[in-house]
Amino acid sequence: MANLVTSFMLWLCLISYAYITIHAAPVWPRGRSTRFYDFKIQTMTVNKLCNSKQIVTVNNMFPGPVVYAQEGDRLIVKVTNESPYNATIHWHGVRQILSCWFDGPSYITQCPIQAGQSFTYEFTMVKQKGTFFWHAHVSWLRATVYGALVVYPKPGVPYPFKYPYEEHIVILGEYWLQDIVQLERQVLASGGGPPPASAYTINGHPGPNYNCSANDVYKIDVVPGKTYLLRLINAGLNMENFFAIANHRLTIVEADAEYTKPFTTDRVMLGPGQTINVLVTADQTIGKYSMAMGPYMSAQNVPFQNISAIAYFQYAGAVPNSLSLPARLPSFNDNLAVKTVMDGLRGLNTSDVPKEIDTNLFLTIGLNVNKCQSKTPQQNCQGLNNGTMSASMNNISFIKPTVSVLEAYYKGIEGYFTDNFPGAPFRFYDFVNGAPNNAPNDTSSMNGTRVKVLEYGTRVQLILQDTGTVTTENHPIHLHGYSFYVVGYGAGNYNPQTASLNLVDPPYMNTIGVPVGGWAAIRFVADNPGVWFMHCHFDIHQSWGLGTVFIVKNGKGHLETLPHPPADLPRC
Ligand code: C2O
Repeated sequence: MANLVTSFMLWLCLISYAYITIHAAPVWPRGRSTRFYDFKIQTMTVNKLCNSKQIVTVNNMFPGPVVYAQEGDRLIVKVTNESPYNATIHWHGVRQILSCWFDGPSYITQCPIQAGQSFTYEFTMVKQKGTFFWHAHVSWLRATVYGALVVYPKPGVPYPFKYPYEEHIVILGEYWLQDIVQLERQVLASGGGPPPASAYTINGHPGPNYNCSANDVYKIDVVPGKTYLLRLINAGLNMENFFAIANHRLTIVEADAEYTKPFTTDRVMLGPGQTINVLVTADQTIGKYSMAMGPYMSAQNVPFQNISAIAYFQYAGAVPNSLSLPARLPSFNDNLAVKTVMDGLRGLNTSDVPKEIDTNLFLTIGLNVNKCQSKTPQQNCQGLNNGTMSASMNNISFIKPTVSVLEAYYKGIEGYFTDNFPGAPFRFYDFVNGAPNNAPNDTSSMNGTRVKVLEYGTRVQLILQDTGTVTTENHPIHLHGYSFYVVGYGAGNYNPQTASLNLVDPPYMNTIGVPVGGWAAIRFVADNPGVWFMHCHFDIHQSWGLGTVFIVKNGKGHLETLPHPPADLPRC
């Protein structure tokens, strides 16, 4: 990985803009420096788990190339699709201030880049730094199309903690032996759930617990006594994961690319879409220690991969072929371990937490089972009770339109979405224990491409309420275009009378694991005009419709107005 990283640092060009203020000049963020990257989406052959297969990647690297920048830089990434599939790239966690056109979710902000076509993403890291990642945002391609995006502070600005001796990127993933595009097609046609991944991976490597993988293992060489910064990223598709290092403690200093107050723990949990920076000091006896990634599965009766991916944290001077000391992961359903990590996440810079709100939305999130509509139920209705699985927010399954919502909205093309996404469920009932229609029997959802329109500058609170319609589950809910303060969360049904909110030092995140059978309250100010997807970061739930879209209207003047679309915006 380290080699790949250095070898990729061929920035084609590095231009410094002198920042000249001219009256009436275009005023959207330009950035200090501009960094150019060239992404070629290609298929390549990999050998893993005793099998060789073709996967889709960027620049023939797996994981893909690391994109480096500094806060305030402008990134220009030309993406050429040399794969046979539709593709887009999303810059997960990048707020895309006034650059919604380059956000990347297919059919939300753009049509996919078709085979043989290209599209150039251009955006600025406005007041953002830390660990991000990029991934394909079309079908389930991100199973292999992902990589890190690391943004350093401005020159001369230190980290708010002791400078680490070295830093390493640690990307957690899920790997399938089956072709991912076929797998997606089969699962969605079946009406049932997805099979577990063939393996978990750490930087693409399953490690010694898996067949034929004793040497397919990632390793960090450490010097005794030194402190390391690990940039943990969960790029998995459908699973949340614990991560731990044998005998070593982890000090969380950043979550979702925002600093946190330091919090020391034995393990962390990351849902897909989450990033956490931890400091680890090599303060144990010289040896070889396991870094382990294992499952966190909060839903009932869902099959999952139970073999941990292992990497090594190996001290200089350790006997190379010795067995590594095993890491202790929580059991797969240890909800308390998850809560403990969450309780420890406190924002470091939280002076702008919205104390007042203008709009309070209540959104249920969960799974549904719809009645079988197929003439071949054996093939197509393999969900619970011989129905088809679905998922929803406020009991509406989001259907992606055939042109992007952003284009339809911007150009005023009618017929692709409706602006009637409800700000509250149609009925209030016992969400955790009941069913939405005629509880407890009718578990079906409605389909629609319904969006919620917000005026520029609205101070929004969202209550995300997990439902137990099919099974309760911790859902990693991700919002595009914004970070939000996680001002509260708890077990059971949300009750405004008893819910206690933290308006003092909440973490500022872009993906929140809503507690299983519980709720979370998040706040943000809708000051970035555009069309922003919010969805469960489990791809299977996204495919089943667990998402919605916010349209944030323009405010006044250039600085509050979404610019025109780029000329090379892909056509559908
Ligand atoms: Cu990381 Cu809409 O996704």
